[in-house]
Amino acid sequence: MTTHAQITGIGSYLPQRVLTNAELETLVDTSDEWILSRTGIRERRIVAEGQATSDLATAALSTAIASAGIGPGDIDLLVVGTSSPDMIFPSTACIVQDLLGLACPAYDVNAACSGFIYALHAGVTAIESGRAKRAAIVGADALTRHIDFTDRTTCVLFGDGAGAVILEAGENAGVLGVALGADGSGGDLLKVQAGGSAHPMTHEALDTRKNFVTMNGNEVFRFAVKAIPRATMEALEASGLTVADLDWLVPHQANQRIIQTVEQRLGIPHDRVFSHVDRVGNTSAGSIPLALDDLYTSGRLSPGNLVALVGFGAGLTWGAAVIRWTMARPIKEA
Ligand code: UT7
Repeated sequence: MTTHAQITGIGSYLPQRVLTNAELETLVDTSDEWILSRTGIRERRIVAEGQATSDLATAALSTAIASAGIGPGDIDLLVVGTSSPDMIFPSTACIVQDLLGLACPAYDVNAACSGFIYALHAGVTAIESGRAKRAAIVGADALTRHIDFTDRTTCVLFGDGAGAVILEAGENAGVLGVALGADGSGGDLLKVQAGGSAHPMTHEALDTRKNFVTMNGNEVFRFAVKAIPRATMEALEASGLTVADLDWLVPHQANQRIIQTVEQRLGIPHDRVFSHVDRVGNTSAGSIPLALDDLYTSGRLSPGNLVALVGFGAGLTWGAAVIRWTMARPIKEA
């Protein structure tokens, strides 16, 4: 009998502090009109003083554990996708493991904005091979900690947040197909240069602002609108499905113009493509599970729905997963 992985719990967390386009107008030479028309973003959430990526991840995962109806001791693997870890080491996964009282192996995966799909792939592989029965998969980033709030080309785009799912072994297929890819030759297009072994965090690094995200936005845009359709088609093929079978496409929430271009290229109707980029901006590895949880908690996902999750990011990296949704609709509070 083949063992499959199913999503049996989900949760997400956004920090309370809202950063609006109007507020950004006071920091850099930009306008609400420019940000909205070029990106579709109206506002994003940012971490509070003292709040770290592990806090976002812990909040999201504790909701996911409760929604699966299990306890922390039932989980036998924790994988956190993040590119803004609390510190170089220990891993953010180990910090989350301690905060929630899990007793299982825990590690981080750094695939930037594709981090959740990469982490999901690790969890699915562990379950399908019989090495884990219940895996906690988290995508979490506090990327605004690495954003230069004097650089208008990046500071308007990013927000902070986290999402998590519980994967469980079962007879019925939940995660039908996963496709991953990477092209390291594009690494210079989107990076944080300093703070690692190549460029330690020196005074010189700080003076030349190498501690912040830099990006070639036009090239990343071009890459994204090719990578998303390609990854989606690969994951659909691995699942024996086509675009017409999909009830939902949940793309990485980076830019509404990227999402619109992808819709057209895939030929998928607009009302089957989820977007809430206007409210959250680009939350990096948090983006896809945050979007999936919003879709679920707003009552728009039904058992049996076929959903494609697809991301792209620094590396360059990309990845997609096609899932059959199996969780019952959420119970609405009176
Ligand atoms: O998770 C992956 C993360 N990265 C992405 O997803 C980024 C993908 N790329 C993009 O989303 C878009 O390329 C951006 C939103 C970053 C930029 O949009 P664009 O339409 O490609 O604009 P552009 O870079 O071609 O810049 C057009 C103009 C430039 O001025 P000039 O040279 O034409 O005078 C920029 O300096 O807009 C200017 N500009 C701004 N103006 C007002 C750039 N950023 C801003 C800003 N406010 N925030």
